Amino acid sequence: MLSALTPISRPGLQGSKLLILVLCLNIQSEVESCPGACVCYTEPKITISCQQQGLTAIPTEIPIQSQRIFLHNNKITLVRSTSFTSCRNMTILWIHSNNISLIEPGAFYGLNKLEELDLSDNTNLKFINPITFRGLIHLHTLHLDRCGLLELSTGLFRGLFSLQYLYLQDNNLQNLLDDTFVDLLGSADVTDREGYCKHVAETCEKLGLGNASS
Ligand SMILES: *[C@@H]1O[C@H](CO)[C@@H](O)[C@H](O)[C@H]1NC(C)=O
Ligand SMILES: *[C@@H]1O[C@H](CO)[C@@H](O)[C@H](O)[C@H]1NC(C)=O
Repeated sequence: MLSALTPISRPGLQGSKLLILVLCLNIQSEVESCPGACVCYTEPKITISCQQQGLTAIPTEIPIQSQRIFLHNNKITLVRSTSFTSCRNMTILWIHSNNISLIEPGAFYGLNKLEELDLSDNTNLKFINPITFRGLIHLHTLHLDRCGLLELSTGLFRGLFSLQYLYLQDNNLQNLLDDTFVDLLGSADVTDREGYCKHVAETCEKLGLGNASS
């Protein structure tokens, strides 16, 4: 009896699963699907604004069309590898002033339009996996100040050819490896820290890397 029932009930079950999936996809294609704690608007850019909402996690239903995502001043502790990966058009992400202690390595994978990433004031972060920023070829501003960073792992800034502004002050960095800033030096001498420091004077002064006026 049971074995006869099973094949009959199956197609119905799969049908409803399929319907739910289709409904979800439809909802996602509407810009109007705004996560509960957020305010969303489309001009001048498609913006999802969820700052200061006491959020402890990144909303799972962020519209994939989002170009600017503001999540600062919350209590978020984790950036998952899946948090933003569908948001391929994202250009600005502010997630500063949270309590992030882990960024999963794939969190920003494929976000090759990202221009500005603000992770500052997440004082429990302490470590960033070296592949975290890989492929962010249009990133021009990266805030990593007040992140309790103890080190910058080898290759962390590799391939960030557009980076113009890198903020690293107020961390606990002890040693910097010679090749940390290699790809940020552009055509300058690989070992020319001072050349690099002309672009990010404040950062370099704090790090004791070189005199901005020299
Ligand atoms: C991303 O932007 C392009 C160009 O404006 C657009 O054609 C595409 O639909 C956008 N993708 C998403 C997921 O919104
Ligand atoms: C931040 O997270 C840590 C755990 O990683 C927790 O112990 C601490 O209480 C949190 N701080 C705040 C201000 O929420």
